[in-house]
Amino acid sequence: MNAVSETHLEELGKHAIRYVRTGQTIGLGTGRAASAFIRALGASGVAVRGVPTSKASDELGRSVGIEIGSLGDAGRLASDFDGADEVDPRLNLVKGYGGALVREKIVAASSQKFFVLVGEEKLVAKLGTRGSLPVEVVPFAVPLAFKKIAGLGLKPHVRPSNGGDYVTDNGNLILDCGVNNIHN
Ligand code: A5P
Repeated sequence: MNAVSETHLEELGKHAIRYVRTGQTIGLGTGRAASAFIRALGASGVAVRGVPTSKASDELGRSVGIEIGSLGDAGRLASDFDGADEVDPRLNLVKGYGGALVREKIVAASSQKFFVLVGEEKLVAKLGTRGSLPVEVVPFAVPLAFKKIAGLGLKPHVRPSNGGDYVTDNGNLILDCGVNNIHN
């Protein structure tokens, strides 16, 4: 199924604003859907503080007038709004195709509610359907992680970028691990 259109993402972003209350501190996800939400939030004028899950979301949030906070000053967040790469019928997710998975998972775990913004093309019967499971790894541990993941029968490769390796906002590398269906 094709990726959801920009128009539908815009509608999705606007729809999600109804779950935001003035004065809340909320998580700002990363990617196309989360960016649509951030833009809609800025345009709505609802005054909140946002905790971004990436440098890109931080910059976008500031550019549309959202006050930016950190996990330290926020405590537990009211809600987090983020996209995903796969969603199974039990609402398990694969995240990280966009490279922001570690901060996204920390912010999600720090939030009372987690809103997942996806089009139908992300709904799968089993995780792994799209063929890849991203894992962020500290550079020092890449050879070890590579070996262990390969030992599980997966097929890891270091994510490339512009002739080099893709480096995350945290200074780490990503191992994109080839998978079929993930049973557990
Ligand atoms: C970022 O690493 C990902 O987990 C994103 O949340 C995900 O890739 C978002 O997908 P869209 O860009 O399609 O919204």
